[in-house]
Amino acid sequence: MAQPKHFLSLADIPASELRAILDEAHRRKAARAGLAKGRPDVDAPFAGETLAMIFEKSSTRTRFSFDMAMRQLGGASITATSDDMQIGRGETIEDTAQVLSRFVDGIMLRANSHDTLVDLARNSSIPVINGLTDYNHPCQIMADLQTLEERGGELSDMTLTWVGDGNNVAVSFVNAAAKFGYRLRISTPGGYKVNRQTISAAQSKGAKIELESDPLKACLGTDVVIADTFVSMGDTDADQRLADLMPYQVTDALMSAAAPGAIFLHCLPAHRGEEVAASVIDGPQSAIFDEAENRLHAQKAILAWCIDA
Ligand code: CP
Ligand code: NVA
Repeated sequence: MAQPKHFLSLADIPASELRAILDEAHRRKAARAGLAKGRPDVDAPFAGETLAMIFEKSSTRTRFSFDMAMRQLGGASITATSDDMQIGRGETIEDTAQVLSRFVDGIMLRANSHDTLVDLARNSSIPVINGLTDYNHPCQIMADLQTLEERGGELSDMTLTWVGDGNNVAVSFVNAAAKFGYRLRISTPGGYKVNRQTISAAQSKGAKIELESDPLKACLGTDVVIADTFVSMGDTDADQRLADLMPYQVTDALMSAAAPGAIFLHCLPAHRGEEVAASVIDGPQSAIFDEAENRLHAQKAILAWCIDA
């Protein structure tokens, strides 16, 4: 039997396939201009297809965008938190994978541990999509790159600067750097760096990555400034993190150091006055709501890539 196509990490997927997914996201978004949100796409390729969505932690965007994505593709979704399921009472992820593989056509998992996602995929005969783990968040970065391209950017000509915690979202920007050719600057304090192995693996594939601990220097002339929460889901040391990371708040001063017209991105949810000043995230350079909307369009393309309708 053919192996299912899983969407677990941008590092695993060939650049040409990621490019095709992004093209499809743009195409699907344009094709439904003027259609009511609840109406299916004209081709509705997913009639009869169902996605199971499992959440081990909270979500607004991922949950609603995947659900609407399945509806617009002509299919359906079923959502459960892990606490609603028997995995919350100790059933193995391996058995869960095999059982769901008999009922539905794909699984989206938001997991506490990346290992759980990998175990699910290993034991599943249907595609598994990563809806965020402690390690990475690949769907988010596809939406972010769609947002940059629709504002006229050629990704391979752009410099993107990540400021703050070297967290799961930062990892996916590292994973995608070699695939799309952008230059990525990462500005984090000691103790909050993206893990060395992830960076080395990306660099060995040609990723242009620069580490600069001074956030002002990292933002000089950059085309895109990216922030994310200082306290991710599952982090237990909130007070320490806020103390250590506050010097990495994206402020008007950092945006002024960036190229004129630089774009500000944040995957949301945001904490104004922590990782970003309200004047930046609510200001004219912020693309956060296009970015959130593009979760829907990018994920439709990801679903179409994985699930053979
Ligand atoms: N950006 C993102 O994944 O948002 P949610 O946690 O609301 O899904
Ligand atoms: N880094 C954040 C992203 C939320 C979408 C977290 O993991 O909580």
